[in-house]
Amino acid sequence: MALFKKKQKEKKEFSVLPRHIGIIMDGNGRWAKKRGLPRTAGHRAGADVFEKICKECGRLGIEEVTFYAFSTENWKRPKEEVDTLMRLFHDFLIEAKERLTESGDIRIKFVGEREGIDSKLLSLMDEAEFETAERKGTLVNLAINYGGRQEIVSAVNKLIAEGKTEITEKDISSNVYTMPDCDLIIRPSGEERLSNFLLWQAAYSEFWYSDVLWPDFDEEDLHEALYEFEHRNRRFGG
Ligand code: FPP
Repeated sequence: MALFKKKQKEKKEFSVLPRHIGIIMDGNGRWAKKRGLPRTAGHRAGADVFEKICKECGRLGIEEVTFYAFSTENWKRPKEEVDTLMRLFHDFLIEAKERLTESGDIRIKFVGEREGIDSKLLSLMDEAEFETAERKGTLVNLAINYGGRQEIVSAVNKLIAEGKTEITEKDISSNVYTMPDCDLIIRPSGEERLSNFLLWQAAYSEFWYSDVLWPDFDEEDLHEALYEFEHRNRRFGG
């Protein structure tokens, strides 16, 4: 593991890269608490790390990465915390154009339930999707107001509305928000659970956990996860 410290890895140094990575950005609150700061400061620091890791995924040529930013359950958090998170998404989108240009070819897509999200934020989300839609680089899915169960239920309801009476796995795969199965799920902060994230896509995901808190997560941690992924023996039940 220490092997990767202080050394920037290049794409060609990985013999196999995951096509789709899911990242649970956990540990912001604990990071802030350790520093005597409000939880919201942890989320602000976490937002900077989100951008850094987006850029690194782009640099490495990862096809798709989904970040868990706000779950359908996160509305239960104190209003101040929810407001800060919404403001961070908003601020990111206001400045997104410049930042995304800097980071090159990144495409942005939002995954989750639109209902419940402020209309101003929704139009910024639509704008960012539209403006980056033609890009060919890494697809960054930002999961906001997202729940894995809700995603599956909504896919089934769509199919019922289309008049389907018998539903196949392929039908559900084509109607969930993100198409390809997730190859690797990264969860920092010491927690080892899925927390309603990418339930459908994670059927054969490899998991990588670490004690590092999300605001301290960096490119080397990503490389470590990729190194471990590269050495996993994936048999998909066969
Ligand atoms: C879970 O950690 C984290 C969240 C609920 C929010 C994640 C959001 C960000 C990192 C901001 C992303 C910003 C942009 C612009 C995409 P926690 O706060 O529950 O941590 P804890 O378990 O230590 O309390």
